[in-house]
Amino acid sequence: MTSAPGSPTAAPRPSIGFSYSGRDPALLARVLPHIDVVEINPDDLTVPAGAGDAVRLDPAALAHLAEVAADVTVVAHGVTLSIGTAEGMSAAYLRLLDELFAAVDVAWHSEHLGYTRAAGLLLGNFLDPPRSGEALDLIAGRAAQIVARYGRPFLLENVARLLPDPGGDHTFAGFLDAVAAASGCGVLADVHNLQCDEANVGLDIDGALAALDPRNVGEIHVSAGRWEGRYRMDVHTGLADDTTVALAAVLHARAPHATVTFEIIPQAVAAVGADAIVDQLRALRAALVPAPLPAGVAAGVAG
Ligand SMILES: [Fe+2]
Ligand SMILES: [Fe+2]
Repeated sequence: MTSAPGSPTAAPRPSIGFSYSGRDPALLARVLPHIDVVEINPDDLTVPAGAGDAVRLDPAALAHLAEVAADVTVVAHGVTLSIGTAEGMSAAYLRLLDELFAAVDVAWHSEHLGYTRAAGLLLGNFLDPPRSGEALDLIAGRAAQIVARYGRPFLLENVARLLPDPGGDHTFAGFLDAVAAASGCGVLADVHNLQCDEANVGLDIDGALAALDPRNVGEIHVSAGRWEGRYRMDVHTGLADDTTVALAAVLHARAPHATVTFEIIPQAVAAVGADAIVDQLRALRAALVPAPLPAGVAAGVAG
């Protein structure tokens, strides 16, 4: 749908994204008419490279994604950078990004504002750092290096929390904004992760979103969760709850330039089905487009 520039109903067309495995062209063909952005995870596209644990990006997947990028915006969202690990972020992940950027036109990329390694141990989950000045300097310095290294926008995402809030000098939103201001990176706001935080650690979602500078928000994630006892888990194994879509719409109204991406893990695609995924993407776009006022209401406003 288009409307005349400057008309009362003119609004930018929302940008919709989809998390694509990079290895399922049939699914991609189904969803492409409904999306504007394809989000891939470099960590899911690796093949062994020589001895030991070394990996590289699958050349076949890279060739496929280079073709995809000719038709639609491709972005990357990784999980193994661990930007908050005290000993250092992952050099192996940066090598994957080097390979990706050399082969594919990646419009922007993102990772998580947290850490998955500590003292040489893999933690099996994202943990969020204390919101201290020391952590801010560490993470913002690394984010600035990444922005300079690839010359493309880099976003950091709020992680879903299971452990008690680590606290610190900054508020939840204030820390995201401070990292962005100090590094030149942007914010990827995952609204389902906010719902996990609300359930698990008592986050005030409305307060956090009201405090977050919408100019920093370059992307919004929407996904499905699952309850495990009293904990809301971020699992990406199904369709998003209506409340999650509604939350994305609230944030998108403040940050209409942000792409709203539906995340689903490749292992769940067969069970959910392409038809339901397409319906999800349609519903997401519909939720983001301001509905025209009913005739009577419009007349009342005019009068
Ligand atoms: Fe993520
Ligand atoms: Fe996410």
